[in-house]
Amino acid sequence: MTWVNVGCISAGRLALSPIFWTSYREEAGNLRKGFHMRRRLLVLGGAIFLAIGGTIGYGILNSSGQVCAAQAKASFSEDVMPIFVGRCFSCHQPGGQGNEKSGLDLSTYEGVMRGTKMGKMVIPGDPEGSNLMWLLDWRGAPETHMPLGKKKLSICDRDAIRAWIREGAKNN
Ligand code: HEC
Repeated sequence: MTWVNVGCISAGRLALSPIFWTSYREEAGNLRKGFHMRRRLLVLGGAIFLAIGGTIGYGILNSSGQVCAAQAKASFSEDVMPIFVGRCFSCHQPGGQGNEKSGLDLSTYEGVMRGTKMGKMVIPGDPEGSNLMWLLDWRGAPETHMPLGKKKLSICDRDAIRAWIREGAKNN
């Protein structure tokens, strides 16, 4: 993919470069008008095609800005808990401000599954219906974006939690 991507972009740049257009114009002056128009359309079409191809290729490579290693099977203790410990613990353990306010204790599996005062945050097998993913993807109001006042979790981290929920949110 990298090779194709680089190829697309450099070819796209070449077609759009001033040198190319200058020499093309000189040449075009000697040609009949109809032929000129057709060639112009062809070259223009080619340039647009290459530019779009390069942009799409670039987008695929950079849609997440990172490449996540595919995990064989999601593990609560190895994939999910380290994220909670590093990014949520300070507020969501007994005594923390997030725990005091919402009742959510992320320091144990039981706490994660119990959820908040309002109800469950994780619905096993249904990441889309789980409020936890809603908050981590920053889909609600800013004051519900978690971790509160901090950087958004990386796509890799969120996908790891998503995969764990999809696979049944087990205590594994
Ligand atoms: C800086 C402190 C802080 C951090 C870090 C933090 N939270 Fe929170 N969290 C809060 C507070 C405060 C609330 C209560 C918000 C409210 O009810 O207005 C809350 C509420 C929540 C809720 C319940 C929201 C609701 O609608 O009831 C969830 C779920 C949650 N946090 C998950 C997380 C997760 C997962 C992380 C780590 C990725 C995290 N939080 C990190 C402070 C924090």
